[in-house]
Amino acid sequence: MITGLSHVSIAVPDLEAAAKRLREVYGLAVGEARVNEQQGVRLAYVELPNACIELIAPARPDSPISKFLERNPAGGIHHFCLNVDDVPATSAGIAQKGVRMLGEGKDSRNVHGERIAFIHPKDFLGALVELEEHKNR
Ligand code: CO
Repeated sequence: MITGLSHVSIAVPDLEAAAKRLREVYGLAVGEARVNEQQGVRLAYVELPNACIELIAPARPDSPISKFLERNPAGGIHHFCLNVDDVPATSAGIAQKGVRMLGEGKDSRNVHGERIAFIHPKDFLGALVELEEHKNR
């Protein structure tokens, strides 16, 4: 079951430069950068009262973000993320209706160790959508 909006994710070529711009121009507080080794990405978050902005940059050359940045060198909106109560149950439920999940069956985790999954963009109106559980915070 979908319970809310977690974050909007912006792919950027330079995480520090992006964080600096959000701080200096928009007065936004950007948290410390972290690495998600499993996903091959570096991440930093702007925590807003109702959702977050996620800044995402490649942690290694073969990162999934690298291809996106080849097509969009200045960066851009990469995905948005919905909170769900249970990732496997939600994934299974929509898969029964013909929705394709990326990285099928793989147990993927965010930097908090929470389960995540991605919906194929063709099955969500052209947008890449992440599903995420918030059990640990
Ligand atoms: Co995300």
